[in-house]
Amino acid sequence: MSFGALSPAAVLALSRGAKAAGIWMATGEGGLSRYHLEGGGDIVMQIGTAKYGVRNLDGTLSDDKLREIAAHPQVKMFEVKLAQGAKPGKGGILPGNKVTPEIAAIRGIPVGEDSISPNRHRDIGSIAELGAFVHRVRSVTGKPVGVKIVAGQPGFLNDWLNDCVMHPQHCPDYIQIDGGEGGTGAAPAALADYVGLPITLALPMVVEARDRHGLTERIRILASGKLITPDKVAWALCMGADFVVSARGFMFSLGCIQAMKCGSGKCPTGVASVDERLRQGLDPTDKGNRVAMYAQQVIHTVETISHSCGLTDPSGFSVDNVTATESGVAGFRNTAH
Ligand SMILES: Cc1cc2nc3c(=O)[nH]c(=O)nc-3n(C[C@H](O)[C@H](O)[C@H](O)COP(=O)(O)O)c2cc1C
Repeated sequence: MSFGALSPAAVLALSRGAKAAGIWMATGEGGLSRYHLEGGGDIVMQIGTAKYGVRNLDGTLSDDKLREIAAHPQVKMFEVKLAQGAKPGKGGILPGNKVTPEIAAIRGIPVGEDSISPNRHRDIGSIAELGAFVHRVRSVTGKPVGVKIVAGQPGFLNDWLNDCVMHPQHCPDYIQIDGGEGGTGAAPAALADYVGLPITLALPMVVEARDRHGLTERIRILASGKLITPDKVAWALCMGADFVVSARGFMFSLGCIQAMKCGSGKCPTGVASVDERLRQGLDPTDKGNRVAMYAQQVIHTVETISHSCGLTDPSGFSVDNVTATESGVAGFRNTAH
């Protein structure tokens, strides 16, 4: 989640909590701020369609900025966002009144002017260009590069993974698959509700395609999409995800009450507020502890489920350990005889 969508105190709490829990934090598309760095934990720097934080003024990718960001030892990976589940095929606009000098400096845009995130990367119009982009970011930064997608037609996945097999330098180090049920600060309800495959269908499809192309050892898979309770996390690991990531799980630990005012800047909890008075309601120390406790509790419970399945840890989960019940809830089982 971007700095700008989230308040400074919220980003600071996430950064401290992530460090305390030993998990990483992703920047979202809004660039890398000092609040992300302050906690001291590992960071994934996202490159969205506006290329905030790593752009020239005209919105094209800047190798110099990429190198600058990569020089932070805390930044461990880069992520090219093609889409997110809440609004596939849709860009965004940051209104000029939210483009403060601090946000403008972080994102690399003029102060006080509306800023458009295009609905796609203007320099990625084909699978070959996607591969070349991944290769460029990895070569310039020297760090692993992932790609965040929402699944639609299987044909794209097949063509993309074929290209990765033929041109290994085009291959991403990970794919983050975001379910159509993904969240955001503001999105048209029709896209948030209806567009993009849900994670229950998308994750098995991506895992199967990766394995069929012989890329199991080459590409790690990250999953997201309302995977915010231990049962859902364990389900995703059983289905082949290597990691599970979440936005809203952490928003709740920050104190989000789903007031549905993210876009207005008037979030009453200080999580997404622009208003200085409202922001004071979020204490980064207290909420940083809650972020850490949430992550630790999810990890602990997933481990408990794995032990009950006869495994030493969750990395041993396989599709045989899970079954869907009639209500759609995952049930877990021990496969040992
Ligand atoms: C307030 C908010 C801001 C977000 N900002 C971004 C973003 O900048 N880039 C992105 O790829 N996804 C963004 N997302 C989507 C999440 O990263 C995630 O993919 C999605 O919400 C699914 O995870 P969840 O169900 O655990 O929230 C945002 C989500 C929320 C709730």
